[in-house]
Amino acid sequence: MPHDHMAEMLDLDADVLHDFHRDVINWAGSLAPDRPRIVDLGAGSGTGTLALARHLPDARVTALDKDEDLLEHLRERAVAAGVADRVRTVRADLDLAWPDLGAPADLVWASASMHHLADPARTLAEVRTALRAGGFLVIVELDSFPRFLPDPAGAALEDRFHAELARMRHEHGMHMGEDWGVRLTAAGFEVKGERRFDIELRPPLPPRAARYAQVSLQRVRHGLADRLSSDDVAALDALATTVGDRDDLVVRATRSVWIGRRP
Ligand SMILES: C[S@@+](CC[C@H](N)C(=O)[O-])C[C@H]1O[C@@H](n2cnc3c(N)ncnc32)[C@H](O)[C@@H]1O
Repeated sequence: MPHDHMAEMLDLDADVLHDFHRDVINWAGSLAPDRPRIVDLGAGSGTGTLALARHLPDARVTALDKDEDLLEHLRERAVAAGVADRVRTVRADLDLAWPDLGAPADLVWASASMHHLADPARTLAEVRTALRAGGFLVIVELDSFPRFLPDPAGAALEDRFHAELARMRHEHGMHMGEDWGVRLTAAGFEVKGERRFDIELRPPLPPRAARYAQVSLQRVRHGLADRLSSDDVAALDALATTVGDRDDLVVRATRSVWIGRRP
């Protein structure tokens, strides 16, 4: 998918799914000792980095990502949030050799990033090495792209492009739908928690929700342009101009969280 709007879409996800993000940050925060050292893997626009830095005022967070544009956006947000002195960014491709992260981490946070990495077993072994004994890994994953359209025709369109997205992810070797509990155990972690969040936000929704739908559907339209029928592309084009003003949208998303502890 194109890079356009990636930072905005991630920021909107954080805003619109605020209650979910707050609950998970509280959970992760409860695992951290005083003055924790935290590493955010695939930090993106900084949703986890900034929320953890705000929630834990004496935490130091290292945000890792391979995308320098997103890291720049993250740094600007960290300045605006007044936490820049406790946040550092490191550009790294986590499928290659990992950078030296210094002292072992107390908490590693990986939200919507593990499924991107080429070799989950290798990644988990790297995380295990990066953590101190007794440190925690929090994995947050999404089961699929969110859904927005409440009418039957819209839901059928979403079904079709969701199926195509799943095929594309499979072809690209992405690890969506993994049982990370099993993977954590195989990598030598103790699984300390596992929870699924079924999110459904109904109208009236804040205006940001309609923008979230618009940006998300535009990304799908551009990412799948050559894989969908011309009718579906035209339907997505039409939605791009209308969906931002709709007041009947529903936001449905499923997220799962696993907590692993390095023994
Ligand atoms: C869906 S975004 C999630 C961002 C953020 N964690 C959040 O929850 O909003 C996935 C992020 O993983 C990063 N990523 C994907 N593959 C990566 C790799 N091999 N090394 C480092 N970062 C990677 C992407 O650049 C992107 O920022």
